[in-house]
Amino acid sequence: MKNKILVTGGAGYIGTHTCIALHEAGYEIVVYDNLSNSSREAINRVSNLIGQPIEFIKGDIRDAEAMRNVFSSHHFFGVIHFAGLKAVGESVAKPLLYYNNNVSGTITLLEIMAEYGVKNLVFSSSATVYGDPETLPIDENSKRSCTNPYGQSKLAVEYILEDLTVSDNSWSLIALRYFNPVGAHSSGQIGEDPNDVPNNLMPYISQVAVGKLDKLNIFGNDYPTVDGTGVRDFIHVTDLAQGHVAALNYLEGQINTGKRDSVGFLPINLGTGKGTSVLELVTAFSKVSGQPIPYKFAERRAGDIASCYASADKAKNLLDWQAKLSITDMCQDSWRWQRMNPNGYYIK
Ligand code: NAD
Ligand code: UD1
Repeated sequence: MKNKILVTGGAGYIGTHTCIALHEAGYEIVVYDNLSNSSREAINRVSNLIGQPIEFIKGDIRDAEAMRNVFSSHHFFGVIHFAGLKAVGESVAKPLLYYNNNVSGTITLLEIMAEYGVKNLVFSSSATVYGDPETLPIDENSKRSCTNPYGQSKLAVEYILEDLTVSDNSWSLIALRYFNPVGAHSSGQIGEDPNDVPNNLMPYISQVAVGKLDKLNIFGNDYPTVDGTGVRDFIHVTDLAQGHVAALNYLEGQINTGKRDSVGFLPINLGTGKGTSVLELVTAFSKVSGQPIPYKFAERRAGDIASCYASADKAKNLLDWQAKLSITDMCQDSWRWQRMNPNGYYIK
């Protein structure tokens, strides 16, 4: 058995897939989640998939006492920190909720980690911190800027992590900047379970394919892209999960070879390096599912950018990680999850 890892937000979409990858890589895991955007059923399914119960603690990262209880009863090598709210529109309507949950919550987590001498962290950042990129592909040194409270909360946490490593170089903090996570576990047992009507493209397409929604609105067909629709770097959630295992392996490697001080604050993109347009994704999904995906062109969505895709070189060079799964795999697995679970996990 390898080191023990605390997974905050481990009941969520990316967290559940990462728990499986961590278990397969031999890590012992403890999941801490307040279930504000997830369900116990997700944890049950992860337990079934790995063939043993997961240690799950229901709690909030802003609750210092509850966190102290967790840290005092376990010896963690580090934390993978997924816990956070992620809906851009909601963040505009409720900025205080987002800053409180995502920024204050992370500060509380870091304070408790410091108390218990746990100084290794992998943080869920986002390509959203690059705002409207000046050049493509986007590398980690690109300018950071955000236009909505969700993005600002990710950026604020990145600055906090950076300052922390300046104050004390025994912290090793990796910020993984995810591009557009899609897809589901190949078993069809776990996947993305949006509340209400999805905001993001892939769950919207899946719900049109399964007949829950009538048609897709494609936001803008006059962007300077291959076919006028937006271009994104879609990455399979299973590849993303492996990226977290690679990040932990990297941290362990640095620490075991006496190079802890060299990690500091390390931002790394997790993307495929390839852009796919909205129309290309719709066509791929329709082909894989055998279902028509009716769509109409609509106005551009406020805050959207034309194109966004990663330079994935740093992850390859430092972490020895690269995405393996294709757009077809992403569509196949999203479709399987949607078909097998037309109402998501049911139990909220
Ligand atoms: P998710 O909502 O499915 O998972 C987040 C989990 O955190 C949920 O289970 C939720 O209940 C939990 N949580 C939220 N606030 C909490 C709190 N205060 N205390 C304890 N638990 C709390 O989202 P996801 O898609 O799995 O995203 C995971 C992380 O990755 C988030 O931080 C998100 O901002 C970031 N991210 C996601 C995407 C994406 O497209 N999904 C892209 C970039 C970054
Ligand atoms: C969005 C968020 C981003 C967040 C990411 C992952 C915005 C502006 N950005 O990114 O901060 O990190 O989700 O949660 O909300 N599209 C349609 N029709 C739809 C839905 C989407 O045409 O019904 C298009 C969009 O215009 C875009 C592309 O599909 O061109 C991808 O959209 P989406 O899946 O929402 O991801 P992002 O906008 O890249």
